[in-house]
Amino acid sequence: MILAPSTTDLFALGAERLLDLATDHAGPFFAYDLGVARERFARLRAALPERVRLAYAVKSNPGLPLLETFSAAGAWFDCASAGEVSAVLAAGGTGRRMVFAGPAKSERDLQAALFAGARVQVDGIEDVARLHTLNTGDEPLEVSVRVNPASGVSEVAAIIGGGGPSAFGVDEEEVAEFVAAARAYDRVRITGLQVFAASNELDAGRLLANHRTALRIGRELAGVLGHGLDLIDLGGGLGVRYAADEPSLDVRALGAGLGRVLTENPWFEGELLLEPGRWLSAPTGVYCARVVRTKVSRGQRFVMLEGGINHLLRPLLTGQSFPTVALRPGVGMLGDGGPADRTGASLVPTTLAGPLCTSLDRVGSGDLPEDLRPGDVVVFGQAGAYAVTQAMSHFLSHPEPEQVWVG
Ligand SMILES: Cc1ncc(COP(=O)(O)O)c(C=O)c1O
Repeated sequence: MILAPSTTDLFALGAERLLDLATDHAGPFFAYDLGVARERFARLRAALPERVRLAYAVKSNPGLPLLETFSAAGAWFDCASAGEVSAVLAAGGTGRRMVFAGPAKSERDLQAALFAGARVQVDGIEDVARLHTLNTGDEPLEVSVRVNPASGVSEVAAIIGGGGPSAFGVDEEEVAEFVAAARAYDRVRITGLQVFAASNELDAGRLLANHRTALRIGRELAGVLGHGLDLIDLGGGLGVRYAADEPSLDVRALGAGLGRVLTENPWFEGELLLEPGRWLSAPTGVYCARVVRTKVSRGQRFVMLEGGINHLLRPLLTGQSFPTVALRPGVGMLGDGGPADRTGASLVPTTLAGPLCTSLDRVGSGDLPEDLRPGDVVVFGQAGAYAVTQAMSHFLSHPEPEQVWVG
């Protein structure tokens, strides 16, 4: 699908700026607009009730300028490795505004989280036992328990889980047994909950249904524990559109709904936490790669780019393409039919392939201008999340893409 960069929630930066950057960069590159990051954070923060903390999920993009931008805006951070904890501390974040999650935390991870003072989310009794040993402080360590709900919404169940068997958390039906076992470890105290079973969800109502489930599980957990909870972490999963015909997630409806969820649960006097990654970072970035050659093979048109799944793996993992436009140096945007279109070339179904010696190297498909030629630049939008760090960067020893931060 061809979309104009004026569709700003799909493409950061404009055609002219990107062509200037392409002139300066010999190879494929990511370009990020920090102004978009500031605007996204402020918009979501303004939509949420005061009692909802907003954490940025570092895994979606751990770029230092992005972390610094969110830290300066007052974000909490959701980390899942010792490396992410270090990155957040380097960016000015603090352990007091950090949660730490992961289904298989290493000793190094737990020590990094404890050293920083982050709120750890335990995924099972083993985490409790290890934290009991590692906690050398005077007070019990306050932790949250991740619970795997009996049902959830998930566009990509294989990535996040949500209902059914899961590597994450304690199964909802085993919570009472878990709490009983955890009582043996008096240097750890369970005071919070995390429930997260959504991915790239565009419907605020479906997210809120999950959040109501989290509060119900929280009430039951508090009953089993015999005391209240100070934090209920609702996870991320706020979706972005990858195609122009998809709706945008209504974050004001989400915020208003969370206000109602709090009102409906007067037993809960703590704070809620949302930890979106994609919604905050995807629209900040684009990935740009030049066309190397084109061909038609048995009726199918291929455009081969200088970057492939060594830089962008998500389309192969999820079957969902990033939105794309094509630019030509010295000309501008090609073939979108809109005001920026300089050629009016018609669009033809195209498979975008990379330079790697495997037929797995596909980075998308869609309708692209029929006259696309070597040197033209294909721009992938929404590439600020789950792009550079979710790729097979070492495969075939091509250089890593440069990352350019603007604003
Ligand atoms: C624990 C946790 N929190 C937050 C996120 C962020 O999810 P999203 O980027 O879909 O908002 C993830 C994603 O895997 C996660 O595992």
